[in-house]
Amino acid sequence: MHSHEDIDAQAAQSATAAPIDAWIDGFEGGPEFFQELLWLASDIKSNLPRYVAARPLAGKVLASIFVNPSLRTRTSFESAMARLGGHMITLMPGNGVWGMEFEPGVIMNGDKAEHIKEAAGVLSSYADVIGMRAFSPMEDFAVDMADAPIKALAQHAKVPVISLESACYHPCQALADALTLHEVFDGAPQGKNFTLTWTTHPKMCGVAVPHSALLSAARLGMNVRLAHPKGYELHPDVMAQANHLADTTGGSLTLTNDMDEACKDTHVVYAKAWGSHLDYGNTAAGAERNAQFGHWTVDTPQMEAGVDPYFMHCLPVRRGVVVTDAVIDSPRSVIQQQAANRMWAQMALLVSLLGNPQSHG
Ligand code: CP
Repeated sequence: MHSHEDIDAQAAQSATAAPIDAWIDGFEGGPEFFQELLWLASDIKSNLPRYVAARPLAGKVLASIFVNPSLRTRTSFESAMARLGGHMITLMPGNGVWGMEFEPGVIMNGDKAEHIKEAAGVLSSYADVIGMRAFSPMEDFAVDMADAPIKALAQHAKVPVISLESACYHPCQALADALTLHEVFDGAPQGKNFTLTWTTHPKMCGVAVPHSALLSAARLGMNVRLAHPKGYELHPDVMAQANHLADTTGGSLTLTNDMDEACKDTHVVYAKAWGSHLDYGNTAAGAERNAQFGHWTVDTPQMEAGVDPYFMHCLPVRRGVVVTDAVIDSPRSVIQQQAANRMWAQMALLVSLLGNPQSHG
């Protein structure tokens, strides 16, 4: 355990340096930085009035680009900036803002008037940090997994860049999930069984959340069970990274095509739908494939097979499809805690990237 003074010292240290210039896969800055973020997030959560009074983000501006919709990410970042003395500008390309092009070398004779190259430079002259949400177009798995749009922003920006969810990763969700796992297991999630299970869904969804959830649990040293039907494999590079993390943290990673098997004796059931890599470029086929596995819904029997497990989901969630009301409304559901922790986790990230040391809490 760390004393309050230890935590403050860690927090001050992380606030005096800008150790990363991009938060894209959540591994930037290494495991120490990630651990510092968790400590700082807990400290801010426990001592909000002190941080609000200190205004560590006074005079700082976050410019955010939301190519796709959001409730939690947008609101939690706006709240984080406002409470700590900063300001957030939200831009939605194509909705009062020029449509944005990400493709390098493209002839821009379509309906998109602004290229990320110019936008990144311009926003860097107004803001201290830039965030962007740009989901997978779901057209080509390999192309999407290269995560070119967020990397182009990071390449052309002159200020730090934060992914607000890309095709491949959702690092801010993963940070909040890690904070939640620390909280529910009293600071010791390592060694606990963590089941990440695919669920059915009427549409094809991206793999950013399952990728980041898998990596986050492996980084915490948990015994990760990944369950999905055949054809829904996650990206091999992410699987290799998760295996490597499990080796280094003392955790483990096992794969099964049986949700019930994955839920036996588990301590956490994390549900998420994602599209099959076989159906990128054909979303109708993807929806049909999902429908073949319409029984992959987290329900009471899966929860009863575990060790009084916690239920997790990043939200938004399709009730009655991904999970039954009985499970999501049960006392073991920590979905609200996960969502609330988005704000605390992102406050820690913002303070670490931008904080004024002299006004740190
Ligand atoms: N979990 C999450 O990122 O929620 P939003 O899509 O509402 O931002």
